[in-house]
Amino acid sequence: MGSEANKENDAIISCENLVKIYKTDDIEVVALQGLDLEVRRGELMAIVGNSGSGKSTLLNMLGGLDKPSAGSLYIDGRNLLKFTEKDYIDYKRNVVGFVWQNNARNLIPYLTAQQNVEMPMLLKGVKERRQRARELLTKVGLEHRMTSRLDQMSGGEQQRVAIAIALANKPKILLADEPTGSVDTKTSKQILDIFKELNRTENLTIVIVTHDVKLAKHIDRVVAIRDGKASSEIIRKRSYADELNELGGFESGNEEEKEEEITTEELAVLDRSGRVQLPKEYLDSLGIKGGSKVKVELNEDAGEIVVFKSD
Ligand SMILES: Nc1ncnc2c1ncn2[C@@H]1O[C@H](COP(=O)(O)OP(=O)(O)OP(=O)(O)O)[C@@H](O)[C@H]1O
Ligand SMILES: [Mg+2]
Repeated sequence: MGSEANKENDAIISCENLVKIYKTDDIEVVALQGLDLEVRRGELMAIVGNSGSGKSTLLNMLGGLDKPSAGSLYIDGRNLLKFTEKDYIDYKRNVVGFVWQNNARNLIPYLTAQQNVEMPMLLKGVKERRQRARELLTKVGLEHRMTSRLDQMSGGEQQRVAIAIALANKPKILLADEPTGSVDTKTSKQILDIFKELNRTENLTIVIVTHDVKLAKHIDRVVAIRDGKASSEIIRKRSYADELNELGGFESGNEEEKEEEITTEELAVLDRSGRVQLPKEYLDSLGIKGGSKVKVELNEDAGEIVVFKSD
C-alpha cells in the first residue's frame, strides 16, 4: 500500500502535541497539554492515570466525540482537525466503536440483546442484521442470551452486549472507557479476554482506559498520563518460556507462576520537544518541588543524562 497515509510506520492513531482546552464561563481547563501518542494497527493497549489526568478527554478526541483545540491527530490516515460535521458522523459510523463504563448510554433496557445489537445496523441500513447480531453475540459469549431482555441481564452480560454493539458497524478501532469499572474481578477478566480474542482474531486495534491495576497487569503496553501528557510507559515482555508455550501448546503453568515469568520495564516518555516528566515519587523522595531548578548533566560515555538536585 505504501501510501502517504501509512508513512507513520503503520500507526493507526498518531497524535502529536495534542491540546484540549475546555472553556466554561470564564474558566479554562487545559485537559490535554501537548500529548504525544502513537498506536500501531492491530495493537491492544491501555491508558492509565489519576482522576482528572485527561484519559476520557483523550478517548473522546480519538472517538470523534469532541474536537481537539490544537496539535495534530491522524487516525487511519485522516486528519481529524480538518473534519467537518459530516466527516465526524462518517468517522463515528465507520471507523470507531465505543464502550463506556456506564453502558446505559447505548443500551435499550426493554429490548432483547439481539434487538439491541441490530439497532445501529438498522440505522445504517445493513442487510442480514439478524445473522450479524447473532454472530456478534456469540463472539462475546452470549449465544444463550440472545433473546433475553437487557433489564434481565447481569451488569457483566450487559457490558458484553455493549461490546457487541460497538462492533456492529465493523470498526477498525475499539475505544473503551473504564469498561470494567462497574463489574467484579472475574467479569473484568472475562471482558479483557474478549478484547484479547477480538484483537487476535480480527486484528482490531483496541485502546482501553482503566483504573483497574489488575486489568492493566495483563496488557502488554500501558501508557500513563499525568496532567494531560503521556508521562511513562510500561512494556511487558513475555518470557521465553511463555513464548514457547504459545508456539508449542505446552501445558502452561498456573496464573501466579506465569505472572512471575513476565518481565516489565517502565520507561519515561520523552516528548517531541525533548521534555520528560520525572516520576513524582523520585521528586518527592529527594524533596524536589515542581517549578524549582535542577542541574542536568550529560555523561556521553555512559549514555546518561543525569538530573541533580541543586541547593
Ligand atoms: N466537558 C468539560 N468541561 C470542562 N472541563 C472538563 C470537561 N471534561 C473534562 N473536564 C476537565 O478536564 C480534566 C480532565 O478530565 P477527564 O475527564 O479527561 O479526566 P479522566 O482522566 O478521565 O478522569 P477520571 O479517571 O476521573 O475519569 C479535568 O480537570 C476535568 O475537570
Ligand atoms: Mg474518565
